[in-house]
Amino acid sequence: MQVRKVVIPVAGWGTRSLPATKNLPKEILPVFRKPAIQYIVEEAIASGLSDVVFVNQQNKRIIEDHFDHNLSLEQYLERTGKTALLEEVRRVAEMANVIVVRQKEQRGLGHAVACAREVIKDEPFAVMVGDDLMFHRDPGIHQLLDVFHNEHMPVVGVMEVPRDKVSRYGIIDAEEYAPGLYRIRGVLEKPSADTAPSRLAIVGRYVLTPEVFSHLEAASPDASGEIQLTDALAGLARQNRLLAVKLYGQRFDIGDWVDYLAANIYFALQDDELHDDLSARLRDFLPPVR
Ligand code: G1P
Repeated sequence: MQVRKVVIPVAGWGTRSLPATKNLPKEILPVFRKPAIQYIVEEAIASGLSDVVFVNQQNKRIIEDHFDHNLSLEQYLERTGKTALLEEVRRVAEMANVIVVRQKEQRGLGHAVACAREVIKDEPFAVMVGDDLMFHRDPGIHQLLDVFHNEHMPVVGVMEVPRDKVSRYGIIDAEEYAPGLYRIRGVLEKPSADTAPSRLAIVGRYVLTPEVFSHLEAASPDASGEIQLTDALAGLARQNRLLAVKLYGQRFDIGDWVDYLAANIYFALQDDELHDDLSARLRDFLPPVR
């Protein structure tokens, strides 16, 4: 069955990026010329997904506004003959069908996904976490959709992380049945380095089937009152209903300042007009290599 919908939870407070995110959603922080969330939506569209379901809250409405027309701005750009910019802002407004559902309390990633249940109904769907930007000529979520269409099973995207970072992620216990493809036996949310079953971390890309909703309903809140998506994934794994695929590409966690700044530089350096000047400025800051 064709996957058309992607759920993008965006209701979180972005505490890692305060004070920048006091009144500005972290998804709107620019990464070079575009808000971070635009890269996520572009990855979804480039992968053949058409319906974007934002799970949002009342204080972050400018996220969905970014994917709508701004008529006053468009009129101004038209009047002043700024045709290229006009086309660009219109393209953003028209790139996706946007559906917004509200997460009225911030009770975790699993709770956010469950909020989309009425919109998803009985179709398979993708989930993309707004913090994780990914770049490869084969877009990250497309790599998962390929596996889903061949195997007809829920699938998560994983990447190998260093031992000192495993405690930031959901970590899978899995058997590799083909290069880069895994059958998941179990999954642990943010384990310590000593208890982690592997260094394969779930990186914010999922293709799921509606069966996940009954697992979410059955999941109990964790110590901080949150419903973890990982608990529902563990339920699927117990029924041998969960695969993982190792993703290729560059990944930036924009809630992490090093990754956020690196993402800006990565994109700016790909711009022919900026490349030389920016490289020269960066060399000014960095001490010479001895
Ligand atoms: C969430 C998931 C975690 C996953 C991570 C990927 O954690 O709970 O399993 O590895 O996203 O970004 P969060 O970053 O919301 O704490």
